[in-house]
Amino acid sequence: MGRLENKVAIITGSANGIGKAIATKYAAEGAKVVIADFNEEALNATVEAFKADGKEAFGVKVNVAVEEDVQRMVEETVAHFGQVDILVNCAGVLDKMQAAHNVEDAIWNRVMDINVGGVMRGMRKVLPYFQEQKSGVIVNLSSISGLMGGRGGFTYTAAKHAVSGMTKNVGSHYGPLGIRCNAIAPAQVDTGMTQSIEGYDMFGLGQASRGVKGIMHRVAQPEEIANIALFLASDESSYINGVVLAADGGWSAY
Ligand SMILES: NC(=O)c1ccc[n+]([C@@H]2O[C@H](COP(=O)([O-])OP(=O)(O)OC[C@H]3O[C@@H](n4cnc5c(N)ncnc54)[C@H](O)[C@@H]3O)[C@@H](O)[C@H]2O)c1
Repeated sequence: MGRLENKVAIITGSANGIGKAIATKYAAEGAKVVIADFNEEALNATVEAFKADGKEAFGVKVNVAVEEDVQRMVEETVAHFGQVDILVNCAGVLDKMQAAHNVEDAIWNRVMDINVGGVMRGMRKVLPYFQEQKSGVIVNLSSISGLMGGRGGFTYTAAKHAVSGMTKNVGSHYGPLGIRCNAIAPAQVDTGMTQSIEGYDMFGLGQASRGVKGIMHRVAQPEEIANIALFLASDESSYINGVVLAADGGWSAY
């Protein structure tokens, strides 16, 4: 019997990267997974690959910055699978490492809409279902920038601190109702997100990179983050709630 047998999990941003690794791990442990992403081509390819592998997967095209999309994502999940047990808020974007004096409004608004608003919208929509069934688990993707001050751009750092705060707030408010909410705070993970620095603010990048040389001994593989997301979604972590867990190989411990 899998560790997530009969559970229905929505994973936003799961057509690629960490979200895809989490969906893969969840499906391998018996969960029915909802692949929710705004990249339609990657979304369809991921769903097809899961189905070909005998997994129960359902795709929803969603922009987490759009309220109607998030509502539809949850409603279609319940219509398709009959329930929702787990929400992983993984969809997220970077801010080109813009330092405070170089922040562009368009970047600020986009990152806040997706990285903060998307997480809020997802949680706001699933919580009534979770309250009714008196159970449910939320796993948010924060970042080491949601715990530390100088390791990302200004907007991304603000957004991920908001994710950390929302995680603790929801964990605290809804824990007594049988609902858990935790976050993972990775350092650098080897995904498409971190493979190009085109158009970056070189001042911001330079400042944020000061602590990388010598003390970040390696980047993580997406599967290493997915292992944590599996633990946090399963009953094995039943007494962990409202926590933002650093996953950085000891980088922030230095
Ligand atoms: N990669 C890292 O080094 C790293 C480190 C710390 C935290 N994180 C966080 O982990 C999460 C996943 O990152 P990743 O590295 O897998 O990124 P990625 O770029 O590989 O994948 C992100 C996925 O999210 C989707 N997405 C982006 N905006 C969306 C939106 N508005 N609506 C729906 N889907 C959207 C993309 O299409 C993509 O499939 C993000 O929240 C990111 O901030 C990543």
